[in-house]
Amino acid sequence: MHLLFYALPVLLFHQSRNYVAAQSVCACSSVVIPVHVDVLVPKDPTDEFAGLKSNASELRRVDATYDIYGIFCEPATTVSSQNNDVVQLLVHGFTYTSQYWSPPVEEFRNHSYASFSCGHGFSSFAVDVLGAGLSSRPVNASDVQYPTSAAALSQVARYLKTTSLLPGVPAFNKVIGIGHSAGSGLLDFGTIVEGPQSPFDALILTASLGTKINTSTLPTFTSARDVDPLRWGSLDLGYVTVSNRSLFYPTDTSTFSPRMVLLDEFTMDVGTVGTFEQTGTIALTTGYFGPVAKVVGSEDQLFCTGTDRCEDVEALTAAERTLWPAAQSFKVVVEEGSGHDMNLDFFADGPFNTLVRFVKQFSAS
Ligand SMILES: *[C@@H]1O[C@H](CO)[C@@H](O)[C@H](O)[C@H]1NC(C)=O
Ligand SMILES: *[C@@H]1O[C@H](CO)[C@@H](O)[C@H](O)[C@H]1NC(C)=O
Ligand SMILES: *[C@@H]1O[C@H](CO)[C@@H](O)[C@H](O)[C@H]1NC(C)=O
Ligand SMILES: *[C@@H]1O[C@H](CO)[C@@H](O)[C@H](O)[C@H]1NC(C)=O
Ligand SMILES: *[C@@H]1O[C@H](CO)[C@@H](O)[C@H](O)[C@H]1NC(C)=O
Repeated sequence: MHLLFYALPVLLFHQSRNYVAAQSVCACSSVVIPVHVDVLVPKDPTDEFAGLKSNASELRRVDATYDIYGIFCEPATTVSSQNNDVVQLLVHGFTYTSQYWSPPVEEFRNHSYASFSCGHGFSSFAVDVLGAGLSSRPVNASDVQYPTSAAALSQVARYLKTTSLLPGVPAFNKVIGIGHSAGSGLLDFGTIVEGPQSPFDALILTASLGTKINTSTLPTFTSARDVDPLRWGSLDLGYVTVSNRSLFYPTDTSTFSPRMVLLDEFTMDVGTVGTFEQTGTIALTTGYFGPVAKVVGSEDQLFCTGTDRCEDVEALTAAERTLWPAAQSFKVVVEEGSGHDMNLDFFADGPFNTLVRFVKQFSAS
């Protein structure tokens, strides 16, 4: 079985303490941040409102300390840094890891948003969300729900603003949250709960619209321990994965590399039933005051294709804006040709430039 043969170097790479990424524009290090969360979660993790509409008897408390793993990348000394006091907190989607922001093979180095943004002078911290990758994986999957995962991300953002991540790297003044798919959902949920107290100075939410997804176009998940008993055999049944990744790419198979899909399958990770079901909370209104941008691919099979939703950007912006009534500014960009995993197909350049443009704008404001 070639899976292990392939996966091992990838994991080793992931765990290496220090490496220099593409074209030496980036200096990157692994960092683990301890976070304390104390939240109420619904006793039923399939509650799509994640407990926000529940009464006290339907909730339980999760009070725990977790380790959140991430890769911090800063522009190499050869690149003029745009803004030493701004950091991007990059949050991957469901069943991915921080590697979504930096595919760990040479061939796909130019699909690394971490490197791309270093090249434009911006630092990033790409985390593994709670339960995924090298971050803590609570024994009981039902502890990993939107309230716990989102609180852990907010605590990471607060840490970045108060504590030196590494020797020579002072605390940052601004944290810009950039999410992909369920990662956007988690950032969104954090602002629903925290509103003006949110530690994020700006949000860029990719591959995530407030519109409820047509459930017939959702990917199907399976208990991770059934998918790969060797790797995940001991996990609680509530840890799940998505073995068929095709919905994450455009339907036109000439617009992405088949080897990217292979890499995707080999490096896929786990999520939980709760964090899958609770994505619907993004259809709730948020009292967040910072600037917000949404970026979605015209060929996103979860949100755009099969509907005319993404064709009229003005109408889409107006519809999405209603969920962010307090936002300082609100923009939607539809990337022509991009699929759900917009970093991974041949159009990645488009979204990468869009993200950096927003980051520049939000850093200056
Ligand atoms: C809480 O909500 C549940 C379901 O909606 C209901 O059955 C129960 O009576 C409620 N409990 C209280 C104390 O209001
Ligand atoms: C996980 O925790 C919940 C709430 O405490 C409990 O009802 C459930 O039985 C636990 N599941 C496992 C597998 O321990
Ligand atoms: C959901 O998608 C299916 C298949 O693409 C389609 O037949 C159905 O009409 C859609 N439902 C809604 C409510 O849009
Ligand atoms: C994966 O799902 C797509 C539809 O989304 C389907 O066409 C394809 O056959 C599936 N692949 C496998 C290997 O099951
Ligand atoms: C990656 O490199 C290829 C070939 O050099 C190029 O066609 C593609 O646009 C690049 N992609 C990105 C995201 O820069």
